[in-house]
Amino acid sequence: MPGRQCNAVIVGPGLGRLVRYCLEGAALAGKAVKILCIEANAAAVDVLNIEYGRDPAVTVENLALHPTHTAGELPAACAPFVGACHLSVSELLGCWGDNEFLPELISTVQRLFLLDDAVVIPESWDNYLVPVHAPGIHAGVAEHEATYICAPSSPDVTLLAPATLAYSARCATADRTFLGSVAF
Ligand SMILES: C[S@@+](CC[C@H](N)C(=O)[O-])C[C@H]1O[C@@H](n2cnc3c(N)ncnc32)[C@H](O)[C@@H]1O
Repeated sequence: MPGRQCNAVIVGPGLGRLVRYCLEGAALAGKAVKILCIEANAAAVDVLNIEYGRDPAVTVENLALHPTHTAGELPAACAPFVGACHLSVSELLGCWGDNEFLPELISTVQRLFLLDDAVVIPESWDNYLVPVHAPGIHAGVAEHEATYICAPSSPDVTLLAPATLAYSARCATADRTFLGSVAF
Protein backbone atom coordinates (compact mmCIF):
# COMPACT_ATOMS: atom_id res chain seq x y z
CA MET A 1 0.00 0.00 0.00
CA PRO A 2 1.68 3.26 -1.09
CA GLY A 3 2.00 6.12 1.41
CA ARG A 4 1.06 6.04 5.04
CA GLN A 5 -2.69 6.59 4.85
CA CYS A 6 -5.06 3.65 4.53
CA ASN A 7 -8.73 4.19 3.67
CA ALA A 8 -11.05 1.41 4.78
CA VAL A 9 -14.76 0.80 4.34
CA ILE A 10 -16.84 -1.37 6.65
CA VAL A 11 -20.40 -2.26 5.64
CA GLY A 12 -22.49 -3.44 8.58
CA PRO A 13 -20.14 -2.63 11.47
CA GLY A 14 -22.96 -3.25 13.95
CA LEU A 15 -21.72 -2.33 17.41
CA GLY A 16 -18.21 -1.57 16.16
CA ARG A 17 -16.05 -4.63 16.71
CA LEU A 18 -14.48 -4.46 13.23
CA VAL A 19 -13.96 -0.70 13.58
CA ARG A 20 -11.93 -1.32 16.72
CA TYR A 21 -9.91 -4.06 15.00
CA CYS A 22 -9.15 -1.74 12.05
CA LEU A 23 -8.01 1.06 14.36
CA GLU A 24 -5.85 -1.36 16.36
CA GLY A 25 -4.42 -2.94 13.19
CA ALA A 26 -3.52 0.46 11.75
CA ALA A 27 -1.86 1.48 15.01
CA LEU A 28 0.18 -1.75 15.05
CA ALA A 29 1.23 -1.20 11.41
CA GLY A 30 2.08 2.46 12.05
CA LYS A 31 -0.44 3.59 9.40
CA ALA A 32 -2.84 6.49 9.51
CA VAL A 33 -6.33 5.21 8.76
CA LYS A 34 -9.64 6.69 7.71
CA ILE A 35 -12.62 4.38 8.12
CA LEU A 36 -16.03 4.76 6.50
CA CYS A 37 -18.73 2.83 8.38
CA ILE A 38 -21.99 2.17 6.49
CA GLU A 39 -24.61 0.81 8.84
CA ALA A 40 -28.32 0.30 8.11
CA ASN A 41 -29.54 -0.05 11.69
CA ALA A 42 -30.17 3.32 13.37
CA ALA A 43 -29.74 1.82 16.87
CA ALA A 44 -26.30 0.47 15.92
CA VAL A 45 -25.44 3.86 14.40
CA ASP A 46 -26.23 5.48 17.77
CA VAL A 47 -23.82 3.09 19.50
CA LEU A 48 -21.15 3.70 16.83
CA ASN A 49 -21.52 7.45 17.27
CA ILE A 50 -21.18 7.19 21.05
CA GLU A 51 -18.03 5.07 20.65
CA TYR A 52 -16.39 6.71 17.62
CA GLY A 53 -18.28 9.96 16.96
CA ARG A 54 -15.40 12.09 18.27
CA ASP A 55 -12.68 10.13 16.45
CA PRO A 56 -11.64 12.01 13.28
CA ALA A 57 -10.47 8.71 11.78
CA VAL A 58 -14.01 7.31 11.72
CA THR A 59 -16.98 8.41 9.59
CA VAL A 60 -20.33 6.81 10.42
CA GLU A 61 -23.19 6.85 7.89
CA ASN A 62 -26.70 5.53 8.54
CA LEU A 63 -27.36 3.96 5.13
CA ALA A 64 -28.69 0.65 3.86
CA LEU A 65 -26.27 0.04 1.02
CA HIS A 66 -27.96 -1.42 -2.06
CA PRO A 67 -26.45 -2.97 -5.20
CA THR A 68 -28.18 -0.33 -7.35
CA HIS A 69 -26.55 2.60 -5.52
CA THR A 70 -24.49 4.98 -7.63
CA ALA A 71 -21.74 7.20 -6.24
CA GLY A 72 -23.95 10.25 -6.77
CA GLU A 73 -26.65 8.82 -4.50
CA LEU A 74 -24.33 8.36 -1.52
CA PRO A 75 -24.34 10.79 1.43
CA ALA A 76 -21.84 13.63 1.05
CA ALA A 77 -19.58 12.27 3.80
CA CYS A 78 -18.89 9.19 1.63
CA ALA A 79 -17.40 11.27 -1.20
CA PRO A 80 -13.73 11.21 -0.03
CA PHE A 81 -13.90 7.40 0.05
CA VAL A 82 -15.36 6.87 -3.43
CA GLY A 83 -12.78 5.03 -5.55
CA ALA A 84 -10.16 5.65 -2.86
CA CYS A 85 -10.26 2.72 -0.41
CA HIS A 86 -7.46 0.22 0.13
CA LEU A 87 -9.47 -2.18 2.28
CA SER A 88 -12.99 -3.54 2.66
CA VAL A 89 -13.70 -5.60 5.73
CA SER A 90 -17.17 -6.83 6.56
CA GLU A 91 -18.98 -9.42 8.58
CA LEU A 92 -22.55 -9.76 7.38
CA LEU A 93 -24.69 -12.85 7.14
CA GLY A 94 -26.14 -14.22 3.92
CA CYS A 95 -26.79 -14.87 1.18
CA TRP A 96 -29.21 -17.72 1.76
CA GLY A 97 -31.22 -18.15 4.93
CA ASP A 98 -30.58 -14.54 5.90
CA ASN A 99 -31.27 -11.17 4.35
CA GLU A 100 -27.78 -9.67 4.59
CA PHE A 101 -26.41 -10.23 1.11
CA LEU A 102 -22.69 -10.12 1.79
CA PRO A 103 -21.28 -10.95 -1.67
CA GLU A 104 -23.77 -8.65 -3.40
CA LEU A 105 -23.00 -5.78 -1.01
CA ILE A 106 -19.24 -6.26 -1.08
CA SER A 107 -19.24 -6.31 -4.89
CA THR A 108 -21.08 -2.97 -4.62
CA VAL A 109 -18.38 -1.71 -2.26
CA GLN A 110 -15.80 -2.86 -4.82
CA ARG A 111 -17.53 -0.90 -7.59
CA LEU A 112 -18.07 2.29 -5.58
CA PHE A 113 -15.20 2.55 -3.14
CA LEU A 114 -12.24 0.28 -3.81
CA LEU A 115 -8.95 0.88 -5.59
CA ASP A 116 -7.94 -1.79 -8.12
CA ASP A 117 -5.44 -3.43 -5.78
CA ALA A 118 -7.61 -3.21 -2.64
CA VAL A 119 -7.77 -5.99 -0.09
CA VAL A 120 -11.27 -7.49 0.33
CA ILE A 121 -12.03 -9.41 3.54
CA PRO A 122 -13.67 -11.86 3.21
CA GLU A 123 -12.74 -12.79 -0.37
CA SER A 124 -15.39 -15.44 -0.72
CA TRP A 125 -18.52 -16.68 0.97
CA ASP A 126 -19.88 -20.22 1.25
CA ASN A 127 -23.16 -21.29 2.80
CA TYR A 128 -23.78 -24.84 3.91
CA LEU A 129 -27.09 -26.53 4.72
CA VAL A 130 -27.50 -29.33 7.20
CA PRO A 131 -30.65 -30.80 8.80
CA VAL A 132 -30.46 -30.86 12.58
CA HIS A 133 -32.32 -32.50 15.46
CA ALA A 134 -32.49 -29.99 18.34
CA PRO A 135 -35.55 -30.67 20.52
CA GLY A 136 -34.56 -28.29 23.36
CA ILE A 137 -33.98 -25.39 21.01
CA HIS A 138 -37.18 -26.20 19.11
CA ALA A 139 -39.19 -26.11 22.34
CA GLY A 140 -37.59 -22.83 23.43
CA VAL A 141 -38.30 -21.21 20.07
CA ALA A 142 -41.92 -22.37 20.19
CA GLU A 143 -42.38 -21.12 23.75
CA HIS A 144 -40.85 -17.68 23.19
CA GLU A 145 -41.92 -17.27 19.54
CA ALA A 146 -38.31 -16.42 18.81
CA THR A 147 -35.76 -17.19 16.15
CA TYR A 148 -32.52 -18.85 17.13
CA ILE A 149 -29.14 -19.27 15.49
CA CYS A 150 -28.38 -22.92 16.03
CA ALA A 151 -24.71 -23.61 16.73
CA PRO A 152 -23.77 -27.11 15.49
CA SER A 153 -21.54 -27.48 18.54
CA SER A 154 -24.41 -26.99 21.04
CA PRO A 155 -24.94 -30.10 23.17
CA ASP A 156 -28.62 -30.15 22.21
CA VAL A 157 -27.89 -30.34 18.47
CA THR A 158 -27.45 -33.53 16.46
CA LEU A 159 -26.49 -33.19 12.80
CA LEU A 160 -28.61 -35.58 10.74
CA ALA A 161 -26.41 -35.53 7.61
CA PRO A 162 -23.09 -34.10 6.46
CA ALA A 163 -23.25 -30.38 5.69
CA THR A 164 -23.79 -29.66 1.98
CA LEU A 165 -22.52 -26.61 0.14
CA ALA A 166 -25.58 -24.67 -1.05
CA TYR A 167 -24.27 -21.27 -2.17
CA SER A 168 -20.84 -19.99 -3.03
CA ALA A 169 -19.70 -16.54 -4.18
CA ARG A 170 -16.66 -14.38 -4.78
CA CYS A 171 -17.20 -11.15 -2.81
CA ALA A 172 -15.41 -8.78 -5.18
CA THR A 173 -17.60 -9.70 -8.14
CA ALA A 174 -20.61 -11.54 -6.65
CA ASP A 175 -20.00 -14.31 -9.21
CA ARG A 176 -22.00 -17.02 -7.53
CA THR A 177 -23.20 -20.57 -7.68
CA PHE A 178 -26.49 -21.77 -6.22
CA LEU A 179 -26.92 -25.47 -5.90
CA GLY A 180 -30.21 -26.10 -7.65
CA SER A 181 -31.33 -28.70 -5.14
CA VAL A 182 -29.98 -30.10 -1.92
CA ALA A 183 -30.69 -33.67 -0.92
CA PHE A 184 -29.70 -35.40 2.31
C1 LIG B 1 -24.32 -9.86 11.49
S1 LIG B 1 -24.31 -8.14 11.94
C2 LIG B 1 -22.54 -7.91 12.04
C3 LIG B 1 -22.07 -6.98 13.11
C4 LIG B 1 -20.60 -6.60 13.08
N1 LIG B 1 -20.01 -6.71 11.75
C5 LIG B 1 -19.76 -7.37 14.05
O1 LIG B 1 -18.64 -7.75 13.68
O2 LIG B 1 -20.17 -7.58 15.17
C6 LIG B 1 -24.67 -7.35 10.39
C7 LIG B 1 -24.81 -5.84 10.43
O3 LIG B 1 -24.93 -5.40 9.08
C8 LIG B 1 -25.94 -4.41 8.99
N2 LIG B 1 -26.43 -4.42 7.60
C9 LIG B 1 -27.11 -5.42 6.97
N3 LIG B 1 -27.39 -5.09 5.70
C10 LIG B 1 -26.85 -3.85 5.51
C11 LIG B 1 -26.82 -2.95 4.39
N4 LIG B 1 -27.38 -3.28 3.23
N5 LIG B 1 -26.17 -1.77 4.53
C12 LIG B 1 -25.60 -1.44 5.72
N6 LIG B 1 -25.60 -2.24 6.80
C13 LIG B 1 -26.22 -3.42 6.71
C14 LIG B 1 -26.96 -4.82 10.03
O4 LIG B 1 -27.74 -3.72 10.44
C15 LIG B 1 -26.06 -5.36 11.16
O5 LIG B 1 -25.69 -4.34 12.06
